[in-house]
Amino acid sequence: MTEKRKSIHGSWSGRLAFILAATGSAVGLGNIWKFPYIAGENGGGAFVLVYLLCIAVIGIPIMMAEVLLGRRGRQSPINTMRTLAQEAGANPLWRWLGGAGVLAGFLILSYYSVIAGWALAYVYRSAAGTFTGATAEGIASIFRQLTGDPERLLAWHTLFMVMTMIVVARGVRSGIEKAVRFLVPALFVLLIMLDGYALAGGAFDQGLRFLFTPDFSKITANGVLIAMGHAFFTLSLGMGAIMVYGSYLPERTSIAKTSIIISLLDTLVAMLAGMAIFPIVFVNGLEPGAGPGLIFQTLPIAFGHMPGGVLFGTLFFVLLVFAAWTSAISLIEPAVAWLVENRRVSRVYAAVYAGVATWGFGLLTILSFNIWAEFKPLSFISIFKDYTVFDLLDYLTANIMLPLGGLLIAVFSVWIMKRDDSLQELDMGDGPGYRLWYALVRYVTPVAVLIVFLNVTGLLDFVGLFGLAEE
Ligand code: PFF
Repeated sequence: MTEKRKSIHGSWSGRLAFILAATGSAVGLGNIWKFPYIAGENGGGAFVLVYLLCIAVIGIPIMMAEVLLGRRGRQSPINTMRTLAQEAGANPLWRWLGGAGVLAGFLILSYYSVIAGWALAYVYRSAAGTFTGATAEGIASIFRQLTGDPERLLAWHTLFMVMTMIVVARGVRSGIEKAVRFLVPALFVLLIMLDGYALAGGAFDQGLRFLFTPDFSKITANGVLIAMGHAFFTLSLGMGAIMVYGSYLPERTSIAKTSIIISLLDTLVAMLAGMAIFPIVFVNGLEPGAGPGLIFQTLPIAFGHMPGGVLFGTLFFVLLVFAAWTSAISLIEPAVAWLVENRRVSRVYAAVYAGVATWGFGLLTILSFNIWAEFKPLSFISIFKDYTVFDLLDYLTANIMLPLGGLLIAVFSVWIMKRDDSLQELDMGDGPGYRLWYALVRYVTPVAVLIVFLNVTGLLDFVGLFGLAEE
């Protein structure tokens, strides 16, 4: 038996703290902002079904793999992969899997923070009563004013990045642990209230039908890739965030049980958000495929007309900011942990270096919503013809980098690492549970990810790929 390693960054106080921190990482803008709008853009039910399937057969097993690698390596993902590759007698290049994760986290956070900035701006607008009595058109114009103004976006993005750097600089244990204990339950309560509003407001069944009646004629191969990519994104998988959180996990905690709990909570939040948003969309004659502005153009209508809307609206956006915050921290943590380990800088400097670089890169996203709104760099590729720089960044990270990262994590944990090692780390005995996990990660995940990739690229025949897209 190998001697147990210790993390130099400390550890969670226990199982609940890990569940809350990992749930804090998983539950974020992905659930409340992104899931509804991509489900809307990709036709609803069939997309949701593919997404749920991906969570169950790919997401949960990969989450277990990431936690087990993290807990075994007990370092930042780059060094964890290096150590575990050494231990397994594998190629040292595996550490670049950790490196790719750091890059993915950097790219994701650069745009994530801009969207979190919108949520911050909406806290302020709600509290000021801006939405009270406003029409759908009025609210759409408030949204356009915000996103059309790069300076305002920059200010909110800056504030959010500073908030993120502060928590990361102080170390995650006391800050995040305490915050999530209250915030995660509060978010659930508010979402359920919003569902109550949607239920009473009419069109609830139309919303449910849209979300849960699969119509496979509405989904494309690219839609399947987006659903799979989102399963990775929403569970924070494929880039080392859950791996680094796993590296702070106490020895005896069950990895399987905690991974299932985290995934269920995450899925529940997404479903509650979808069920609150689509009825409001339909009652107000809005477009489900409205894109990234969807929740910012729908929920304020509800807040503007419900009793106590100023209070609940403000609370909701505050919670959305918190949900984004606890995810942002996990996006930057792999880079910060690595800087501390390898560059011998303090956490404070590490957080500032990584944070400032991410902040600067965020300008690309800010400009995508205004000055560069018509700039479509890959318009010669048909599926990307309408994609702005922000859309491309999101597509590249969520739909390509995370699934590829997840695929390699899967390959490493069952094809490279010794079976005895994963058996020991998962600590659930060599029974049906372990065997199911092993088979899913060994065959199902890699094959599923590859099939989805090949399907999408197969659809893009040479002419479609490089020919001029139709206007
Ligand atoms: N899971 C987060 C969300 O759904 O908003 C986003 C995210 C966090 C993605 C951390 C990836 C990650 F490593």
